[in-house]
Amino acid sequence: MDLGEESSLPSLPFPVEVGDAKFFLAKGSDGYKLLSVICPHQGGEVQDEGEEVFTCDGHGWQFDKYEGVCVNQARVRMKAVPVTVTEGRLWALVRPE
Ligand code: FES
Repeated sequence: MDLGEESSLPSLPFPVEVGDAKFFLAKGSDGYKLLSVICPHQGGEVQDEGEEVFTCDGHGWQFDKYEGVCVNQARVRMKAVPVTVTEGRLWALVRPE
């Protein structure tokens, strides 16, 4: 999926929808990625409420906005889909369902 020109991205992270699936486009230490909003705990929805971390509406677990690492359980991460940059455009390796 084409996510657009890298030079025209809004500030990160920002929401991206692919079919019915929702993500946040984020940039971590290893580059861009789509972080799934489906919480790895019990499937709640991870939301961006403008704080320094994402927060799940299920049980309040929080996740950093760069790597999707859980603040509450360091071994837990948001599911990430790789994003590549080719000739200045971002491409996510995900298909609409
Ligand atoms: S479902 Fe997200 S914290 Fe429990």
